[in-house]
Amino acid sequence: MGFPKGFLWGGAVAANQCEGAYLEDGKGLSVPDMLLGGDVNTPRTFCPTIEKGVFYPSHEAVDFYHHYAEDIALFAEMGWTVFRFSINWGRIFPNGDDEEPNEAGLAYYENVIDECRKHNIEPLITLCHYEIPWAIVTKYHGFVDRRVIDLFVKYATTCMKRYKDKVKYWLTFNEINIVLHEPMIGNLYGTGLVEQVDLDRTEPCMLNELTTVPQRTFEALHNEFVASALTVIEGHKINPDFMIGNMIAYTALYPLTCNPKDLLECQWLDHWKNDFCSDVQVRGYYPDYIMKYFEREGIDTSFITEEDKAIIKEGTIDFYTFSYYMSNCITVDPNAEKSGGNLSAGYKNPYLKASDWGWQIDPDGLRWCLAKLHDRYPDTPLMVVENGFGAYDKVEEDGSIHDSYRIDYFRPHVKAMKEAIDLDGVPLIGYTTWGPIDLVSAGTGQYAKRYGFIYVDRHDDGSGDFSRSRKDSFFWYKKVCESNGEDID
Ligand code: BG6
Repeated sequence: MGFPKGFLWGGAVAANQCEGAYLEDGKGLSVPDMLLGGDVNTPRTFCPTIEKGVFYPSHEAVDFYHHYAEDIALFAEMGWTVFRFSINWGRIFPNGDDEEPNEAGLAYYENVIDECRKHNIEPLITLCHYEIPWAIVTKYHGFVDRRVIDLFVKYATTCMKRYKDKVKYWLTFNEINIVLHEPMIGNLYGTGLVEQVDLDRTEPCMLNELTTVPQRTFEALHNEFVASALTVIEGHKINPDFMIGNMIAYTALYPLTCNPKDLLECQWLDHWKNDFCSDVQVRGYYPDYIMKYFEREGIDTSFITEEDKAIIKEGTIDFYTFSYYMSNCITVDPNAEKSGGNLSAGYKNPYLKASDWGWQIDPDGLRWCLAKLHDRYPDTPLMVVENGFGAYDKVEEDGSIHDSYRIDYFRPHVKAMKEAIDLDGVPLIGYTTWGPIDLVSAGTGQYAKRYGFIYVDRHDDGSGDFSRSRKDSFFWYKKVCESNGEDID
């Protein structure tokens, strides 16, 4: 009973949200470098050129680039056995299409990996976490251009060859389904598809004003499926022991009422937002409900070539990973009260409380998702690679941070995973909390939306000295990791 021996405990970050050093050691610009901060009520803005004298949160982030040894030592102190981080593509191929990789970038990540290994922490690497090189956006419009498939595979296999004896676990695209949750943000962050009309802008524009063309969005997403499958195929040639996974943004969805129309709407949105991408990546083919949708909507599916179908079939993933933060309700009633959530808005659930950013807290939803995923993909190991609570933290005069609200969020989520293992037989292999050290929020660009067990002195006005300190939740999570999830009090 309980978490199996060898269960992986740790945390997850993305390069662009924690590293900073945005042009150091030969790195090229990447998408998040072009984004300004927003807040809970104001969307982030973007401008195709970097403005002087303006604060860009990712440019320095929390300076993990220079603090990685100190930070990994803190992770080890918590008893971690896994650390999920991303390689920033632009550190390895600054323009995305360079002939030769940038040795300084490869050496930097080798140091990070070695530091993990020194502490017996297993690295879990995301190859693309919302950080497509900016030059790929301007020159190719991201993944809508088929040439980017080969550029990605070249980048991915360069990393896999270099670290083949030091890294076992790899993820291809972070939250590949993000374009289905939110096409404007999803294209900019996820597929790098920015239309020329937006690249020609001379004034900053809000992310929810970007142009999206459904036909091109599906083509870009398809090319990511092919790139991901080719990475799986090529990766296994480099090291047959590699475990190469997908990554899905998962939001539990419930019908708001027992009106059958709500149920049908919920079933469709569940397919659309949660199931579609992993059905392709786990089962190896496009599901019927999407092919029928394409037909209804007049999407020309000639981009799904016979050759691509064979690649997708062959390159199915070894394990399924997902982010889980919240649940939402679905209804056909337009007058129902909306929930918050910058990426996954739905309708309010009267039984749940929400974070200050409107994300509805629902640990039972995590158990429900795990059970559903195991039913859907019975032969596939599962891993929760993001789960966490963004909150405002207060530093006391003596420097302590009493974040009991964060512990209150995590405790029932850990319990829910245990129940999924014990009661539903879910083959869960690991858990990495999101933002174990404070970092820049992807959705709002804020520092103030803090997720960490470790506090970083850095603020939305650009002040702070980047010093690190342990919050109360640090000591709680240490207990959880060290007891293999048994001691959660
Ligand atoms: C996930 C992303 O969607 O949620 C992360 O993979 C992100 O990059 C996390 O940071 C939390 O979202 P936010 O908007 O609070 O940073």
